[in-house]
Amino acid sequence: MAAYVQQPASHAHAANLRHDTDFSTEQLAAVLELSQQVKQSRQRYAGSLKGRYLSLLFEKPSLRTRLTFELAIKQLGGDCVTQVGRIADREPLKDVARNLARWTDAIVARTFAQETIEELAHWSGLPVVNALSDLYHPCQALADMLTLKEHYGKLRGLKLAYVGDGNNVAHSLLLCAARLGIHTSIATPAGYGPKERIVEQAKELARVSGAEIETLHDPVQAVKLANAVYTDVWASMGQEAEAEERKKRFAPYQVNASLLAAARKDAVFMHCLPAKRGLEVTDEIMESPQCVAFDQAENRLHVQKAVLLMLLE
Ligand code: CP
Ligand code: NVA
Repeated sequence: MAAYVQQPASHAHAANLRHDTDFSTEQLAAVLELSQQVKQSRQRYAGSLKGRYLSLLFEKPSLRTRLTFELAIKQLGGDCVTQVGRIADREPLKDVARNLARWTDAIVARTFAQETIEELAHWSGLPVVNALSDLYHPCQALADMLTLKEHYGKLRGLKLAYVGDGNNVAHSLLLCAARLGIHTSIATPAGYGPKERIVEQAKELARVSGAEIETLHDPVQAVKLANAVYTDVWASMGQEAEAEERKKRFAPYQVNASLLAAARKDAVFMHCLPAKRGLEVTDEIMESPQCVAFDQAENRLHVQKAVLLMLLE
């Protein structure tokens, strides 16, 4: 019997995805397997969320996350309502959360503060999925892991180089890659590295998987022997006032033909999107055959379906 018709053992047991490590290492592997199953067999899961309703809350703009969650829920037979704007603008967050609990079965939220996600989970008692916060972007990292798994046919032993800002995307990549045995080098300007406690957490997790985690400042050193070179915007949502200053500090970290040439010949280029061409990446690299950014974007849909099945089925 083909492997994709089996349900991963821990399929039903995840409670939340407030941050990456809400999923155990086993659940992380299981959600990637389930993602491949739902990608191969859309019809089989078409009724899985029948009669289930979700609240989608977005404090920040979104193209991919919002549309792929709405599509994922509908393609699984459920439905959702979407609210855009500050979540606790007119009333306390704990009241918002308790309202949502009376109407819907789960919450997907994109927030500024990570605490907003944690409080929504606490006060609603519903499964909550982090759709990006200032600290993490777990759904993105899952799609990225799936993209690498599909491209290379394995994850353990690959080297991922992340070049640029030590931000939410970098944090989630660290926490997933470390557990899946992917060696990870993160090169950032001094003062813009990932949070020390998250690097320490990743190193601790990597001890079990055997992955090597390093943070450095030299982008050429970071991409040496890399199978994948990843970057993200230099100023994230909420940091617009720092954009000009950051342009100067991050200029040596642009992913261009010369930096990518320092990685393995067959390395892929990854970006969570939206990309700012001419800043963190050149147009040439975005349009090159090495770029898998649109595979990553497609995989958002599939991994998020798997996440919803893990939480709600
Ligand atoms: N990558 C990503 O999360 O894209 P959006 O900001 O468009 O949702
Ligand atoms: N780091 C970026 C990711 C966007 C998907 C941001 O937070 O704006």
